[in-house]
Amino acid sequence: MNIRYELLEKTRRKSPPEKVTAFGVVRTNHMFAVDYNDGAWHDARIVPYAPLNIMPGAVCLHYGQTIFEGAKAFQHPDGNIHAWRFDLNAERMNASAKILMMPQIPEDLQMEGLMRLLDIERDWCPTEPESSMYIRPFMLGTEDCLGVKASKTFSYYIMLSPSSAYYAGGFNHAVTLLISTKYHRAVSGGTGAAKTGGNYAASLVPAEHAFQQGAGQVLYLDAGNKYLEEAGTMNHYHILEDGTIIIPPFSDSVLKSTTSMSILDLAKMGKCKARLDAIELEQFLKDIKSGKIIEAGGFGTAAVVSPVGKYILEDGSEYIVGDGGIGKYSRQIYELYSGMQVGAIPAPEGWLKKVERFEVKQ
Ligand SMILES: Cc1ncc(COP(=O)(O)O)c(C=O)c1O
Repeated sequence: MNIRYELLEKTRRKSPPEKVTAFGVVRTNHMFAVDYNDGAWHDARIVPYAPLNIMPGAVCLHYGQTIFEGAKAFQHPDGNIHAWRFDLNAERMNASAKILMMPQIPEDLQMEGLMRLLDIERDWCPTEPESSMYIRPFMLGTEDCLGVKASKTFSYYIMLSPSSAYYAGGFNHAVTLLISTKYHRAVSGGTGAAKTGGNYAASLVPAEHAFQQGAGQVLYLDAGNKYLEEAGTMNHYHILEDGTIIIPPFSDSVLKSTTSMSILDLAKMGKCKARLDAIELEQFLKDIKSGKIIEAGGFGTAAVVSPVGKYILEDGSEYIVGDGGIGKYSRQIYELYSGMQVGAIPAPEGWLKKVERFEVKQ
């Protein structure tokens, strides 16, 4: 599809900040947009980042027919910008679209839109350690209709946010998780496998509850309070004495993390030991106490690898993992993964996509 440009006049463009100091706060000058009606996507364009023009009765505003993605691009030492595994995000966008009764958007259109946008905004890619160009694609049901049914019209956008590390302390900060038997993020048969706004709205009260108990996030269990599921906005992992990383299986109540999938791919290539395996809470706590589990944490695009030093239960009891700090296997996987992202360590073929310079016709 032809992508048209409607760029902000040069004199009205903001300049990138000297340094990024927060995650997800700064915006660049432009975004990518494309609309869907009558069964097809139309009018792909790069336009100024500005308020959206949608009707107050739009389905997305009332019934939450919205999905989104989160990905990253990095400036490499040679000055080129590279997007990290965005093909996996484009694929998951379409998996979420199915769950929310939204149309499929061709993966090559998502990729082309991103590449064009990153090209226009290449000067905004931060270079400080642990920083990145955070990529936020999203799709909205835009039909002006108050009946509860799927929208017939949609818009897809990509916006960019030059960002620093997700947690202020970066990787060197072990988090505490509250194991909640009171709140659930998702249930079997629900929308947990989709990256949709409602799942995150439902996580706000549990996150505040965790905070009140002295934890940074919630470790969610399945609805029967038996198995470990997710760690807030990350997939959970724990590590056995021999260094094997265990991730709970992907299901319809667990988001299929692109970071977890990449770790599993790296394991297939012999770069680490990792597998999917269900673990019951009772066993998990026993294994932390006995020292069979030596490290734990979360995997996700925003924080990459986020080690957990301590778990708290609803009754206030505490379980320290290892020595409560950052373990060596978590550090190894973090250094390998983030090193590949920034071009310091060679990444597997096809994991990084270089942003080309396009001819821009206004
Ligand atoms: C609920 C949830 N689980 C897991 C993840 C990690 O997924 P990814 O590695 O693709 O960022 C995220 C973040 O996107 C999330 O929101």
